[in-house]
Amino acid sequence: MRNTKSEFPNPKQYRSRVGRGYQLGSLWLKNRFLRSATMEYLADIEGRVTDDLLKLYYDLARGGTGLIVTGCAAVEENGRAWAHQLGVWDDRHLEGLRRLANLIRIHGDGCKSAVQLAHQGSNKTGYSYGAEDQGITLETLTEKDIRKTIRKFGEAAARVQAAGFDAVAVHGAHGYLLSEFLSPATNPRRDRWGGSLGNRMRLTLEVYGAIRGRVGVDFPILWKLNSADYLENGAGPEEYAWVAGELARAGVNLIEMSGGLKDQLRLRAQLKQEAGPREAYFFPALAPFRQAVGKTPLAITGGIRSLSAAERLLEAGADLIGLSRPLICEPNLPQRLLSAPRPRRARCTSCNLCLLRIARQPVKCLAFDPFQKILTAL
Ligand SMILES: Cc1cc2nc3c(=O)[nH]c(=O)nc-3n(C[C@H](O)[C@H](O)[C@H](O)COP(=O)(O)O)c2cc1C
Repeated sequence: MRNTKSEFPNPKQYRSRVGRGYQLGSLWLKNRFLRSATMEYLADIEGRVTDDLLKLYYDLARGGTGLIVTGCAAVEENGRAWAHQLGVWDDRHLEGLRRLANLIRIHGDGCKSAVQLAHQGSNKTGYSYGAEDQGITLETLTEKDIRKTIRKFGEAAARVQAAGFDAVAVHGAHGYLLSEFLSPATNPRRDRWGGSLGNRMRLTLEVYGAIRGRVGVDFPILWKLNSADYLENGAGPEEYAWVAGELARAGVNLIEMSGGLKDQLRLRAQLKQEAGPREAYFFPALAPFRQAVGKTPLAITGGIRSLSAAERLLEAGADLIGLSRPLICEPNLPQRLLSAPRPRRARCTSCNLCLLRIARQPVKCLAFDPFQKILTAL
């Protein structure tokens, strides 16, 4: 029999560094597990919180994660990635966001929460979603459009704070708008918003300034960044470590390392194979990022599945361990990893069926549900 008291006579025996608390700016985190932002596809058609979305976060909050970051929430209506994405572009989103923040506070046993802000950029699935195709590209964005988006990030952050979340997070990775501007592979502009790295990161710094201006000096701001684009003409760890260092100097409270600009499905399969038993896809960029950000807290996300890999990452300089797909599969994974001696690895097989499904259906793990697999393929 497994999981009986007699089998685990001394729970202290299983204590791991990952289970120790951590001071992130003004926030005390009960452990090092970060729920990396994961789109839910559970908001209503106007981006408002629904009961189904609350249920997903109820399960996560009770599952032992130290800090939950919601799926990316659109800061502008025309910056949505998908139909049922969470919205934060209007005051009408506030009531639902308040319920969500309250739910996590009440049921999370000290779990902290943040909303991830995003603009989908000029990706083919986004920007003009739900409206007629406006034909907007990065090149045709006017100074006025850019100023508006910067302001919208600031206003959205103020809503997140007003709703009662503990922090605000920003999606600066994966080819979303801020990452499109950062990468030479996707930024064709020749004005002060494109060209040199300093110009390409201008939008990132201005968005940071707008957010900080709205939330004040004590409210934690978390930033997800690529560590590499994995494209021939894209940016690599050296450039992104420099961007991370600039953000840290500007006052960002946590940098979360991720990677990849396009074709995430193929890329992740390749990165998983390359990482092998090390698990963490972006480990090679950890040392340059740590050097660039100094003492600013650093999270690493991507491929981490076992407690031992997480422990090694903390030893190598990470402060928090980001998990996305494993928590889709097992919302209570942190609790399980930190309390039982084995198995001390996630059930998630990184099959990516959850990712395939997310563009048109609520997030769900399909790996252990053959009938759902069939339904998704129909
Ligand atoms: C279904 C799904 C939705 C995702 N949505 C987001 C998102 O909204 N914002 C974001 O920054 N990353 C998003 N990601 C990427 C994850 O946060 C994470 O960076 C990636 O899955 C690698 O981590 P993992 O190996 O722990 O899954 C999503 C991933 C999946 C599978």
